[in-house]
Amino acid sequence: MIKNAIPLRIAGVGYSVPDTIVTNNDLTKLYETSDEWIYTRTGIKERRMVSGNQDAVDLGYEASKKAIEKAGISVNDIDMVIAASSAPPRLYPTIGCLMQAKLGIPNNIPAFDITAACTGLIYALSMARAYISSGICKTILLVATDNNTRLLDWEDRSISILFGDAAGAMVVTASDDGQDDVIALDIRSDGSIGDMIEFPLLGQNCPLVEPCEERKSKIQMNGKEVYKFAARTVPQFVSDMVEKAGLKPSEIDYLVPHQANLRIIQAIQERLGYSDEQVVVNIEKYGNTSAASIPLALAESVEQGKLKLNSTAILCGFGAGMTWGGAIVRLREGIC
Ligand code: UT7
Repeated sequence: MIKNAIPLRIAGVGYSVPDTIVTNNDLTKLYETSDEWIYTRTGIKERRMVSGNQDAVDLGYEASKKAIEKAGISVNDIDMVIAASSAPPRLYPTIGCLMQAKLGIPNNIPAFDITAACTGLIYALSMARAYISSGICKTILLVATDNNTRLLDWEDRSISILFGDAAGAMVVTASDDGQDDVIALDIRSDGSIGDMIEFPLLGQNCPLVEPCEERKSKIQMNGKEVYKFAARTVPQFVSDMVEKAGLKPSEIDYLVPHQANLRIIQAIQERLGYSDEQVVVNIEKYGNTSAASIPLALAESVEQGKLKLNSTAILCGFGAGMTWGGAIVRLREGIC
């Protein structure tokens, strides 16, 4: 395990969800489905969706403001913005740049996006660790925000039932007391099975080359294969990460998993031998919110008093790419 040269502090966390709630019963107006089918297979009862002009940038802005406030810093302290999104409103300007402008962060720092789908927050945290531990940056804003409901095919009942919109944010700084809040972190990918979940940017060839018809981009997923991949890979990966960190699962207080499917969460829980009280689950209310899923689950469960701070937690996620990753983190008092 690589030891951080400069230790990291997780200084603040925040989240934001849109107001509009769409229940499983509402979806029966679009296609033949039922609350029972969706709930028993996924654990989802309802999800939040943006409306009007609201988008992932607006959600990310609200989540970031809360994380910045909790961290007790000013926007002038931020020396990098990393946005993680697989459903941005536009490819460019990036969410990172738009967030910089919207939050009034000075323009002499880098801001950019990364795409690691539902593992986005863990990937972003690993980049923040590299920049902070090497001394290049002191304070980094991570924004994980996704607006998948605009990229779905609303005639495809096997995929569109799963997703919701949300944002989560985290402020990470150089630790001033020598304590490292990132105890372990591991990210992985396997591009050879990338076709399990795709969002192709189709576009059109030049009409001088060939006549072309308009093609609409939408999220495509082989749900069964993704399920099998996640159930096979993620529980083993998480328990290996704990072991490699020289810890026993019993020495870590909570599991905050990506909320994609309740059955996959339960498989990880079983592998670690955790009680229900130790596992953060909010999939029932929000569905799969991609990159936002982990920070949303973390910040909301603290707000509701289900997750007590001054504790440790395993964050873990998986998604398109295929990507997966995890982090064992210390959660200090006051982060949200
Ligand atoms: O962040 C990573 C994102 N992705 C995931 O985590 C997805 C993981 N995969 C899953 O959660 C599950 O594969 C799904 C919930 C997406 C689907 O469950 P499944 O048990 O794999 O269902 P299926 O796609 O194999 O479909 C079974 C049946 C089919 O009918 P037939 O062919 O057996 O007659 C489907 O047409 O269920 C039907 N079906 C539905 N029925 C009612 C598919 N979607 C629906 C629906 N309502 N919404």
